[in-house]
Amino acid sequence: MVMQEDIEKVLISAEQVHTRIKAMALEITRDFSDIESGITIVPIMTGAMIFTADLIREMPIRMKINLMTVSSYPGASLRTQGVTVLAKQLGDVHGRHVLLIDDILDSGGTLRAVIPLLKELGADSVRSCVLLRKDRQTVKGVQADYVGFDIPDEFVVGYGLDYDSVYRNLRDICTLKPSVYSTNTPNTP
Ligand code: IMP
Ligand code: MG
Repeated sequence: MVMQEDIEKVLISAEQVHTRIKAMALEITRDFSDIESGITIVPIMTGAMIFTADLIREMPIRMKINLMTVSSYPGASLRTQGVTVLAKQLGDVHGRHVLLIDDILDSGGTLRAVIPLLKELGADSVRSCVLLRKDRQTVKGVQADYVGFDIPDEFVVGYGLDYDSVYRNLRDICTLKPSVYSTNTPNTP
C-alpha cells in the first residue's frame, strides 16, 4: 500500500516545519540556558517522537529525556476518547525543570492531565511545547508556552501524527482523503 495515495493535501511541508523548529529551538534555548543543572525533556509518545528528535538536536543545552506515553485517540478515532496516562517509563522528575513536548494541542485534555501529574511528581517547573495547535473554541484552562503552528480544526497526519497508528512517517503534515475514514471502523464520523 502506498501511503501517498491517501493524502488529500499537504498542510505544512517538511521544509516549513524545519524552518519553524530552528526558530523555536533558539527561543527555548535562550529561555532555559541559565538553568545550571540542565532540563528534563518529557516527550509524549508516540506522536511527539519525530518533532522531539528534530527540536532537541537544535538545542545545545544539557538535558535528560524521560519518555511518557499517553493514549487519547485509540484505534481509528478522530475525537479524543479520554486521556489515559501510562506514566511507568517516567524517570525521576523531582526538583527538575521540565519541558513537556507534544505533537498537537487539540482539546487540551493531554496537557491538563500531564502537567499536574509532573507537578505532583515534584517537578520544580513545567513548561510545554507543541508543534501544532488546533483552532478550537473548546480549549479551556490550558495553554502551551511554545507553539509551532496554528492550524484549522482538521484531522492531520504525518511528521509523527497518526491515524489508526499509520502515517507517522510521512515527511509533511497532511490531511487524508475522506475515503480513508469511510472504509474504517464505527468510531469515525
Ligand atoms: P488533546 O488531548 O485533545 O489536546 O489532543 C492531543 C493528542 O491527541 C495529541 O497528542 C495527538 O496524539 C492527538 N491528536 C489530536 N488531534 C490530532 C490530529 O489531528 N491528528 C492526529 N492526532 C491528533
Ligand atoms: Mg499524542
